[in-house]
Amino acid sequence: MTRSAPVIAVDGPAAAGKGTLSKRLAEVLGLPHLDTGLLYRAVARRMLDEAVDPACTSGEAVARALVPEDLKRTDLRTPDVDAAASLVARDQGVRQALVDMQRLFARAQGAVLDGRDIGTVIFPDADVKLYITASARTRAVRRYMQNGGSETAPDREAHISEIEQALIARDHADSTRASAPLRMADDAVKIETDALDAAEVLAEALRITKAALERQ
Ligand code: DC
Repeated sequence: MTRSAPVIAVDGPAAAGKGTLSKRLAEVLGLPHLDTGLLYRAVARRMLDEAVDPACTSGEAVARALVPEDLKRTDLRTPDVDAAASLVARDQGVRQALVDMQRLFARAQGAVLDGRDIGTVIFPDADVKLYITASARTRAVRRYMQNGGSETAPDREAHISEIEQALIARDHADSTRASAPLRMADDAVKIETDALDAAEVLAEALRITKAALERQ
């Protein structure tokens, strides 16, 4: 018997393709989707707008005051927000303020949620836990292409290695912080995506998800 409101946790490092996968998985399964990184980005964005230093001041009050419109802003994926969100995400007060929001999101209809701590902290009893990963090099090349980078640009290698260094720094910050660090849950299924395209990752995730839901 499957539960009426399944929760699917999708975790992994930056730029591993969690967002694309989770969106498509949610569409196929008819579930709502929440990109939880947007919550941290929205807190960071507001703090930058208000000229508050995310390294020095807690964003807990900002996190508690978030409204759905904050997640729809178009300026949440800029490099300054990338860096500030990583700092904001270390703040235990911010994380605590966002826990209930994430749990409530899935309560009525279930959901696919992607982030860093969904299977470990937010939904330790999720019906399905996926851990999506790829080498830093693969993730940097994908991010470069997503940003409109050209295959033949003379500075392609320099750009990719700059992105790769930033990803490695962010992975390090996310996985070594004291509060809810990025970590694969013991009962998660890992999908290494270096040799897979988006359709293959989706097919694999669907196979794992259906098998897990049928076992219940
Ligand atoms: O997935 P993303 O790059 O949009 O995430 C932005 C930042 O938020 C990133 O530094 C990690 C952090 N984050 C987190 O700590 N926990 C989550 N569940 C999602 C994101």
